[in-house]
Amino acid sequence: MKYVKLPCGDIQMPIVGLGTWRAQPQEVQDAITVALEKGYRHIDTAFNYNNEEAIGDALKKWFESGKGRREDLFITTKLPNCGNRPKDVERFLKMSLDRLKLRYVDLYLIHMPFSFLCDESNFTPLKNEDGSFCLDVDNDIVGTWKVMEQQVTNGLTKTIGLSNFNEEQVQRIYDSAQIKPAVLQVEMHAYNQQKSLRELCKKLNIAVTAYSPLGSPGANNHFSTKYNYSLADFPDILGHPTVKEISEKYKKNGRTNSLKAPHPTGCHSHSEERKPRQDKSQHRNI
Ligand SMILES: NC(=O)c1ccc[n+]([C@@H]2O[C@H](COP(=O)([O-])OP(=O)(O)OC[C@H]3O[C@@H](n4cnc5c(N)ncnc54)[C@H](OP(=O)(O)O)[C@@H]3O)[C@@H](O)[C@H]2O)c1
Repeated sequence: MKYVKLPCGDIQMPIVGLGTWRAQPQEVQDAITVALEKGYRHIDTAFNYNNEEAIGDALKKWFESGKGRREDLFITTKLPNCGNRPKDVERFLKMSLDRLKLRYVDLYLIHMPFSFLCDESNFTPLKNEDGSFCLDVDNDIVGTWKVMEQQVTNGLTKTIGLSNFNEEQVQRIYDSAQIKPAVLQVEMHAYNQQKSLRELCKKLNIAVTAYSPLGSPGANNHFSTKYNYSLADFPDILGHPTVKEISEKYKKNGRTNSLKAPHPTGCHSHSEERKPRQDKSQHRNI
């Protein structure tokens, strides 16, 4: 396993992580058990994925089996955008830690730069009468970052970062920060290469993690059902002739090529393995 040294403290992040978005509790438990056996040491989740509890169960079993220790793993979770107000940061992190059955996470990210009001009955964005989400336009994310910093000082997370922030938003947090963002997690793949954002992060010494490195083929049904998008709108990266040509040339599958693509640029990728695959070829990237 290769690691990247994060700028904040002496923290090593494995460059490949297991993504868990949309993974249901039983399948995520099975996937994590297989992934840990295969050598994954970095797991990416979020309060919003509603699977931290199941991930916590799988991790607890792994620790109790004696196969590994907490300090061998790198666990990332994220503050939901209905928890972006400064007064909410600590309680949402503590809820995630309770669910994960951990004393600390390695990386805590602000999931989104924009904020929603919170429906306290189920910790989801509050809805207007027409079904749209209630934006919280008064929240200043710089204030959120100040409280993120306190979570490092309090020992609830080793380090902190951002997700889905654009250049202006990253620079604004960076300029105000006492503890600088260690990581920016953004969508990145062949069709969305984020060149200027990556250049900025290189200059500021922020590690960039690519999410949806395969172009999120499994999310097509999710978005077409939830937001009524046409399936024809989704590009097929793995089926692209150039990806196929490269795969044939190097005798790798398109998935391996797409996962490797971010690495020469100094980025790191999370892919999703909701179904536990025993087939070794699916794990060739580590
Ligand atoms: N910070 C954020 O806002 C954010 C947003 C999105 C994602 N993420 C993180 O990044 C992780 C990965 O992102 P992602 O799930 O969007 O995208 P991805 O890694 O690009 O794609 C994963 C999907 O590809 C499918 N897949 C894998 N190999 C395939 C193949 N050979 N042919 C066709 N489909 C294949 C998988 O299907 P199976 O279901 O069969 O495994 C899975 O649904 C997430 O799990 C999450 O942890 C973060």
